[in-house]
Amino acid sequence: MENRLITFDERNKVFHLHNKQVSYLISVENGGTLSHLYFGKRVKEYHNQLRYPRLDRGFSGNLPGSLDRTFSRDSLPKEYSSAGEMDYHTPATVVRHSDGSNALFLTYKTYKIEDGKPDLKGLPHSWVKDKTEAQTLIITLEDKCSEFEYDLIYTIYRDRPVIVRSVKVRNNGKDSAYIEKAASMQMDFGNKDFESITLPGAHANERHMQREKIGQGIHVYSSHRGTSSHQMNILSLVDPDTNEFNGDAYGFALVYSGNHKFEVERDQFDQIHLNIGINDFNFKWKLKSGDSFQTPEVLMVYSDHGLNQMSQAFHSLIHDRIMRSKFKNQVRPILVNNWEATYFDFDEDKLRPIVDKAKKLGIEMFVLDDGWFGHRDDDNSSLGDWKVFKKKFPNGLGHFADYVHNQGLKFGLWFEPEMISYDSDLYKEHPDYLMQVPGRKPSPSRNQYILDLGREEVRDNIFKQMIKILDDGKIDYIKWDMNRHLSDIYEADLPADQQGEVYHRYVLGFYDLLNRLVTRYPNILFEGCSGGGGRFDAGAAYYTPQIWASDNSDAIARLTIQYGTSLVYPQSMLTSHVSVSPNEQNGRITPFDTRGAVAMWGDLGYELDLTKMSDEDSKKVAEQVAEYKKIRKVTQFGKFYRLKSPMNSNQCAWMTVSQDQNEAVVTVVKIMAYAQPYLTKTKLVGLDPNKQYQNIDTKEIFGGDELMNLGFYDSVEHGDFKAKMYHFKAID
Ligand code: DGJ
Repeated sequence: MENRLITFDERNKVFHLHNKQVSYLISVENGGTLSHLYFGKRVKEYHNQLRYPRLDRGFSGNLPGSLDRTFSRDSLPKEYSSAGEMDYHTPATVVRHSDGSNALFLTYKTYKIEDGKPDLKGLPHSWVKDKTEAQTLIITLEDKCSEFEYDLIYTIYRDRPVIVRSVKVRNNGKDSAYIEKAASMQMDFGNKDFESITLPGAHANERHMQREKIGQGIHVYSSHRGTSSHQMNILSLVDPDTNEFNGDAYGFALVYSGNHKFEVERDQFDQIHLNIGINDFNFKWKLKSGDSFQTPEVLMVYSDHGLNQMSQAFHSLIHDRIMRSKFKNQVRPILVNNWEATYFDFDEDKLRPIVDKAKKLGIEMFVLDDGWFGHRDDDNSSLGDWKVFKKKFPNGLGHFADYVHNQGLKFGLWFEPEMISYDSDLYKEHPDYLMQVPGRKPSPSRNQYILDLGREEVRDNIFKQMIKILDDGKIDYIKWDMNRHLSDIYEADLPADQQGEVYHRYVLGFYDLLNRLVTRYPNILFEGCSGGGGRFDAGAAYYTPQIWASDNSDAIARLTIQYGTSLVYPQSMLTSHVSVSPNEQNGRITPFDTRGAVAMWGDLGYELDLTKMSDEDSKKVAEQVAEYKKIRKVTQFGKFYRLKSPMNSNQCAWMTVSQDQNEAVVTVVKIMAYAQPYLTKTKLVGLDPNKQYQNIDTKEIFGGDELMNLGFYDSVEHGDFKAKMYHFKAID
C-alpha cells in the first residue's frame, strides 16, 4: 500500500521502514536474533537476498544448542545486544538480576505497527501533527529466563530522512532487578569505513567540529557532568570522502540534557558498532517487578548529499517537530542584556539610561541578567532566593518592568532555578535541599551548589517562588541559566540501592520544573543557557526555542562555535550578541561590523553598555538593528548552508535562503589579512538557477546560476577579521 511506511515480510521475517528518502531494514535471524540489515538511501523493495554472509569466525561463539558454526551473534550486525549473549561488542544493555548475574539473551517475540508516534511521558520527544505524518514500529524482544522485555521503538516520518528510536524496558519477572545500562539505540554497520564527526569543546569554547578516522577499538564521546555539557555534543558518521555537499552522512542526536554516551567501536572485522544513550557511569536503575523504564530518544538522520543536507534535515526536524513553543515561528526580538554591560554592579537608576538608549537604537527587549534578587552583589550568594533585591530596585521589579514597557521594549529576566548558595535564606530553611553525600563536604563550583531537583518538594519550592514573580504578567522572556555541573551525587529521599538513579532523576526533575513553567506561561519566551552553551541539545529545545550559544562573545571565536553548532541545531535556536572590543573573554579587537555580522548568524542581541558607546558606534548599532529587521526572517528561518569552514581555511562563510528561494543572505568573514592576498571566490548554493537576483546594496543583477556556478570574488579589504554581508532578492 502506498501509504504504508512500514512493512513486514512475514515469510522472510524482514521489517522495512521506508519513505521516499530512506530505508531501514531489520531481519529476524536464527534463534530469534534481531539483525540490522540496512539504513540509508531508499530502496523500493527488499528482495530478501542481500544478506550478511555466514562465516565460521574463530573465537566468536555460536547459538546455544546449535551446531551451526557459521552463525555467530558476535559478528552478525544487530539491532540491540545485551551482556551475556556471547556478543563481545560493548553491549547496548546490561541488567543485574537478583541472583547477581547479568545474563540477558534477547530474542524476537512480537511486533506492532501504529500510525503516528507515541509521546514519551516526562521526557522531551519528537512529535507528529497528526497520525498520517509518521508510523511507528515496536519490536518486542524478550529474555525468557528473567522475563525482561525490551520494546525497540522506531518512528519513520513520511517526509523526512529521519528515523527516531528509543527503548522501553519492562520487568515481567517476579524479582526486582537493576538496569545498569540501557542505550536508546544500537546500530551495526557491516562494511563501512566511517570517520566520526563530533562536537567537543569547553566552557566558552563549545562545539568545535572534530573529524577523526575510526581505528579499531572503542571510541567513547560522552558526558558525565550531569548535563549534555560544553565538552561533547552529538555524533555523525561519514564516509572518508564525504564533504559538505557530497557523500553519505549519518547524524545521531540524543533528545536528552543529561549524561550521555556515544560509543563507536570498530571491531576485529572492521565493522562499526554504535551505541547511543544515557551514560552508564553511576547509572543503576531499580526496576521492580511489573515496572518499566523508558530511555530518551535518538534522532537519526541520513543524507546522501553530505553534511549540509544532514544539517538541514536536523534543523527542520528540531524546529518543526521538537520545539513546541509558539515563539518558534515568530521572529525573535533584538535584545540588550546587561550582563557584560554592568555585571553585578547596577541598580534601577543605572539601568534606565541603557533602556532609553536601547529604545532610541530600535532594540526591542531589555534583559535583566544575574544580580537582581536576594542580596546578590557578586556570585557568592542568594541563589535559591527569588525575591527582588530591594537595594537595587527599591520600588520593586514590577515598577522597573513598567518603565521598560513604557519605553516600548519587552522585559526579560534571568533565573538560575537549579542552584543554591550557602549564603541564602533557602539554605537556612532547607539545608537538605542542597545535593550532597551524607558525611561529606560538597564541592563548590563558582561558589554555588546544586539543588536536589529529583525531589518534588524542592521543585515545588522553586516553582512557587518563581510564579510569585511571573504571575503579574510583566515578564516577557526568561533566561534559564545553570552555572556549574553536578557533583556529590546523592538524593536524600532514595534508599542506598537507588542512588544510581540520581543523575537521571535530576534530569527528569529539571524537565518537570521547566515544563510546569512553559505550560503555565505560554506567552513568555524562554531562552536556555548553561554558562553559555553547556546544555545546547535537542532535549532542551523541546522547552526553550532558543539557547545562549556560548559565554564567549568574541566574533572570531564564535565562528568555530557557531559553525559546529550548525551541524545539528537550527540558527533560530542560537542566540548571539555583539559585545565590546577588546573582547572581555579573550582580549581580541574586532571591527564593529564583523561583530554585527557574526551575531546576525542567529538571534541578534547586544551585550554592552549602550550608554558608553561613541556616537559612531551608536550609529552602527542603529544601522545593524534596522538591517537585521529586514533580513531576520530569512536568517532565522531560511534554509541554512555552510560554505567555508573556519576550521580549515582563513575564511568562514555561510548563507540562508528563504524557503521560496526569493531571498538570500550571505556572510563571508576573512580571518587574517595578507599583504599579497590570494583571490578567493564564494559560490552560492540553494538559489533558483532560473531566477535573477539583485544585490540590494549595489543594485547589481545576477542570474542564480551565475552566483552558484561562477561565484563572486571575495573582498580583499585591508585588515584582520573583516566581514562582508550580501543580501540578494529575486526580481521579476
Ligand atoms: C552565565 C551566562 O552564560 C551569562 O550570560 C550570564 O548570564 C552569567 N551566567 C550570569 O551569572
